[in-house]
Amino acid sequence: MRKKIVAGNWKMNCLLEEGQKLTSEIVNMINDEPIKDVKVILNPPFVHLHGVKKLIAGVDTIALGAQNCSDKDAGAYTGETSAAMLASFGAEFVIIGHSERRAIFNESNELLTEKTKQALSNNLTPIFCCGEPLEIREAGTHEDYVKKQLTESLFGFSEDEVKKLVLAYEPIWAIGTGKTASSDQAQEMHAAIRQHITSKYGKAVAEGISILYGGSCKPDNAKEIFSKADVDGGLIGGASLKSRDFVDIAKSF
Ligand code: G3P
Repeated sequence: MRKKIVAGNWKMNCLLEEGQKLTSEIVNMINDEPIKDVKVILNPPFVHLHGVKKLIAGVDTIALGAQNCSDKDAGAYTGETSAAMLASFGAEFVIIGHSERRAIFNESNELLTEKTKQALSNNLTPIFCCGEPLEIREAGTHEDYVKKQLTESLFGFSEDEVKKLVLAYEPIWAIGTGKTASSDQAQEMHAAIRQHITSKYGKAVAEGISILYGGSCKPDNAKEIFSKADVDGGLIGGASLKSRDFVDIAKSF
């Protein structure tokens, strides 16, 4: 049975008190409205990790995640944060290859392989992102584009390593735009991703991997999107900064 997951990617948002307030509201809501069989992940900026970890302590439904990690393991890499550091602060998950990091910080498929290796070797679960820009979607080559991202970054890993991954499909044209992919568009790509994993690692491995949808997922569209056979939850941006919306999305299965 694949895990159902709703992860909140805060991106570069929340000063100290804002992050503490957001986390406390989410914890209180989930304590008051228990959510069964869904893993809720909070992915704050690095500076919030210690504080968020303390606030979610004892709430089994909620896990801590980060938004990135270095491809290096330790040393003279000013400004970097290693996977080992994330694990030492209690993080269990780490987003890798978000489209904003690929586009703004020029993260290549090859670099993302190294980041994924660092996450796995430090017992973090990578939430590995893929997704096409609008021009690729309009050209109709979106499946090949996403398959290439996965092949070039992940297909060097063993079956046992790939089994540990969570994947996130985030059509770039839907991120932060309010233009959500339709549930059929999400299902089409999630099924194509699962088929691509099957072609390399077999059906049993592919069927066990959670694939999250991200891109303007909101309380009013989450239920429809999450109802699709190959959608196992969401990677939430803007709505994760509003406690009520985020918890409502987590309840949308
Ligand atoms: O990582 C999730 C994010 O890219 C989606 O953002 O604001 O469209 O939910 P948003």
